[in-house]
Amino acid sequence: MDNPMKIAFSEISTPATGVIAVGVTEDGTLGATAQALDEESGGALTRALGAGRFKGKQGTSTTLVAPHGLAVDAVILMGLGQPGKIDGRGLRGLGGSVVRKMNAAGAKTGAIAVDAVDGASVAPPAMAADIALGARLGSYSFDKYHTKKKDEDKKSLGELTVMLGEPAAAEDAFEANASLADGVFAARDLVSEPSNVKYPKTITEDIEALTEEGIEVELLDRDKMASLGMGSLLGVAQGSEHEPYLAVMRWKGAPEGADQQPVAFIGKGVTFDTGGISIKPSQGMEEMKYDMAGSAAVVGLMKCLAGRKARVNAIGMVGLVENMPDGKAQRPGDVVTSMSGQTIEVINTDAEGRLVLADVLWYAQATYKPRFMVDLATLTGAIIVSLGTYKAGLFSNDDELSERLIAAGKESGEELWRMPLGERYNKDINSAIADMKNVGKGREAGSVAGAVFLERFVNGVPWAHLDIAGMAWMKGSHDPTVPKGASGFGVRLLDQLVRAHYEA
Ligand code: BES
Ligand code: MN
Ligand code: ZN
Repeated sequence: MDNPMKIAFSEISTPATGVIAVGVTEDGTLGATAQALDEESGGALTRALGAGRFKGKQGTSTTLVAPHGLAVDAVILMGLGQPGKIDGRGLRGLGGSVVRKMNAAGAKTGAIAVDAVDGASVAPPAMAADIALGARLGSYSFDKYHTKKKDEDKKSLGELTVMLGEPAAAEDAFEANASLADGVFAARDLVSEPSNVKYPKTITEDIEALTEEGIEVELLDRDKMASLGMGSLLGVAQGSEHEPYLAVMRWKGAPEGADQQPVAFIGKGVTFDTGGISIKPSQGMEEMKYDMAGSAAVVGLMKCLAGRKARVNAIGMVGLVENMPDGKAQRPGDVVTSMSGQTIEVINTDAEGRLVLADVLWYAQATYKPRFMVDLATLTGAIIVSLGTYKAGLFSNDDELSERLIAAGKESGEELWRMPLGERYNKDINSAIADMKNVGKGREAGSVAGAVFLERFVNGVPWAHLDIAGMAWMKGSHDPTVPKGASGFGVRLLDQLVRAHYEA
């Protein structure tokens, strides 16, 4: 993102310009600032409540343009819903919607008044921090390649002021959220870039820049990976002009005396997936630039953890390759040997993500003995058939990790749905010529086939695989904190997982 919207916190006052947003609860009760504006405008807000459908329901809003007696250009009434049900997720959604409304109105500056709500379990500083996070996340756009976009077609809102009684407390509470938003934006930026700009080498350059945040970075190049025996990952890279890399990011935030064993996050980083020799149809192939979204989420997450100085030791690991057809490309039927020693018959060169992750997962557990591993991958089209674009698929060998991930999904808004593993699915990937093949029974349970394949490379370590193929790129937007395009899915989810369970 080039020009991020500025966010400031201040005491409550009525701005002289721009747009102001104020809260209304479900029973139609105006918050303190709304009441003050209502009086100044001779009852315009009360009239608006009586005149239309808007009654303060959560997630709804209505706008009064050029209200009589007020200097501001518009007043947005935001529905807070029932006071007892106000929660972080709802507030973040509200922040995102308000920014959308302000941009739609063409406002350059905006203000949101956060008044105490009777009967709510959240106090204004915490409310303000969540609203501000939602606003920041919803303000994202990726415009760098537009050279001719007119000002009126761009997002107008340059600065948002969040007003409340205790601005300093809100500012403190927002600090960690700002790092989270930075991580999400880093992931969205990486995913948005086209594949002529972002390929394994250029992504490693972005990763190396993370050393400035206190992250240790180590890069494994083709020779190093060959010496480790990573024939599975290297087979995928074989048809590309771009050199493959495995990048390791280490964040050491656990204080002395705490559990030093790291948690590990692993990402599929196929910077473009043509399918290889099992080439994809050209219709829609451009979407395969986002086949590195898993790796982008890991990069964004590591940036977030370092940015907010999370008290945890965390490893981020990404396998970066491009899947191209070429005279040197691997063929269907080729047999490769993975670092684990297990052999794989490559039935379909388009089932490449699992081939990349096989070696990265094995290397991660062998090198770091992590408490758990979570991998993120745009692994299968089949998961989009199963779950659409509302939830990612979760596959895991560990019930506790699964429950924690599902809970973190609900809290963060990046939701998961658990899918099965199991012996019968596992048998489906046995090969006649090698230890396994890289596909199962064709169209049947395609996402599970991918997951049981990965499971063979985790060596019994607690592990979860998140198939994010449906979540990485949004063609429409059903969540005000996630604009169209790259979502950065996974950063918020895994930050929440770490916050809730793994910080000393
Ligand atoms: N990158 C794709 C999966 C994908 C599809 C991601 C659509 C995002 C949107 C993956 O590498 C792939 O091609 N999977 C194949 C597997 C099949 C050959 C067993 C698929 O889903 O068709
Ligand atoms: Mn593929
Ligand atoms: Zn792929």
